[in-house]
Amino acid sequence: MCGIVGCMLNDNRKAAPVLLDCAKKLEYRGYDSVGLATYDERIHVKKDEGYIETVDEALNLADMPGNYGIAHVRWASVGKPSKLNSHPHLDEKETVAVVHNGTITNYSELKDKLISEGHKFISQTDTEVISHLIEKFMDEGSDLEHALRRCIELLDGSYAIVAISAKEPNKIVATRKDSPLVLGQKDGSYYLASDIPAMIKYTNRIMELNKKEIVVITKEKLEIHDEHDNIMFRTPIEIDWTPEMVEKNGYEHYMLKEIHDQPESVRRTLLQIDEIKEILDDIGEIEKICIVACGTSYHAALSGKYIIESEARIPTNVVLASEFAHSLNIMDEKTLLIGMSQSGETADTLKALNSIEGPTKLAIVNVEISEMTKIADYTILTKAGPELSVAATKTYTAQVTVMYMIAALLGNNEELLDKLNKVPEYIEDILENSEIIKSMAKTYLYANELFYIGKGFSYPTALEAALKMKEISYIHAEAYASGELKHGPLALIDNNMPVITIIPPGKDHNLTLNSLEEVKARNSRIVTVCSEDDDLVQDKSEECILINPDVDEILAPLVYIVALQLLAYYITIEKKHNPDRPRNLAKTVTV
Ligand code: M6R
Repeated sequence: MCGIVGCMLNDNRKAAPVLLDCAKKLEYRGYDSVGLATYDERIHVKKDEGYIETVDEALNLADMPGNYGIAHVRWASVGKPSKLNSHPHLDEKETVAVVHNGTITNYSELKDKLISEGHKFISQTDTEVISHLIEKFMDEGSDLEHALRRCIELLDGSYAIVAISAKEPNKIVATRKDSPLVLGQKDGSYYLASDIPAMIKYTNRIMELNKKEIVVITKEKLEIHDEHDNIMFRTPIEIDWTPEMVEKNGYEHYMLKEIHDQPESVRRTLLQIDEIKEILDDIGEIEKICIVACGTSYHAALSGKYIIESEARIPTNVVLASEFAHSLNIMDEKTLLIGMSQSGETADTLKALNSIEGPTKLAIVNVEISEMTKIADYTILTKAGPELSVAATKTYTAQVTVMYMIAALLGNNEELLDKLNKVPEYIEDILENSEIIKSMAKTYLYANELFYIGKGFSYPTALEAALKMKEISYIHAEAYASGELKHGPLALIDNNMPVITIIPPGKDHNLTLNSLEEVKARNSRIVTVCSEDDDLVQDKSEECILINPDVDEILAPLVYIVALQLLAYYITIEKKHNPDRPRNLAKTVTV
């Protein structure tokens, strides 16, 4: 779950500022260390533990010679964050520099063997075996690309690797297996990165690299070789993301910017209706649906279950990808198996999709070039645009939007499709009135724990709102279906436990109100997200976030969550944490 970058510039630009710029856009993948290696007569390296801006202040990372090089942002997996464990890793003669994302599971035995052959290791990482192996094979006469090929034949686990060698100047080699790496090109310059946002400022002409292919980049050309050394031709895809989409555009954090992107991202996703219809027509009869996903994507899938079962009457099972192997997954060709993932690279979800044959597989992803699109028979793209904050916001609402469109199409529900078109305006209303949410944040700043409750369509919203709160503010937050309170959790309610109740108008309103009364009777502080004209609920609440009354319980999952994303964001700001870089987390979980 690190970020890796490489570039070979064929104009008079220096590589280091470009590498640094690209690495900054990958910070969501890891932010405990950063490092660069460039080549100019020898390999130059600057690296250390810490956030990019801190290390940059100390080392002036952009000031390095050479017009090609590699870079890395780290999310420590093997070896704690430290200067020595930071990438790039070199061999002891400093002829090879390597950046790596993934985990080499057999590194200990490889390391022992290399040590017995006289290699000296200075880090605790798994990656260092790669630089020593490349050095060893080059010493034995292999060129850089074949040394890399021989090296990966020995590696178990996952990897994306980019390497340079002082013995073969003006060359970058790279490969991948189970960790992402994309290639870009423009005006004779070449770029490599773990993800498209890193390079979108420099090019939107992107190529994928398949498993175990090796790319060799020189000043003259980019060549992709398959496992048998055949040259593979690949046409770049023009991605419709723009450089502005990966900037903060005046917002203090990516998360806030991405929350504000939602009216537009939902609008863009709604424009996919014809493509989705075509896919569903092509799939034909669907008797049941199973969705696998993790984290926020799992909550979007759970919202999908409520919407699809209610509007299309198709039984829909939602399984946590990490638990998929432990459930009885009886599926035939009339089952639609959906993988839901913003990144399209989440290891557990990929594993679940790969583990089963028979059903038609549909990927719902936000990244056009991703592993999941290769596994699936069909792909629906959520059009959220690049999301750089670790906490998913606009990709969540884009996923839920796709769930609505599938439900409406499978249920022939034109009315629902019409209603969806109003959603961006309802979200705009919340964003325009966010001051009230900001001021509420001051009250809940010192809360040690929070409860979220919701019923029916609003239950997955409660789960997602609680996840957002815990992952960025570090407040312990739990979500329950409101009807479940009396079966146990009510024992925890007292005047120290604020309960945030999601209570839109609709058939579940009164039952949710009953639950609200139950917690109020235990002196809990009541915060509600409810309709502007719901005087009854407002009278019973200490604080209310008011939503347009036209948003009924069916549409609520797409609208009410935005208010709760903002609440999590503003509490986090009050607590002086950085919402874009929550501790211990990385955005793309490829292990
Ligand atoms: O890329 P994916 O959607 O598959 O990622 C799944 C989860 O790792 C992700 O949603 C995670 O829970 C986020 N940090 C939520 O904000």
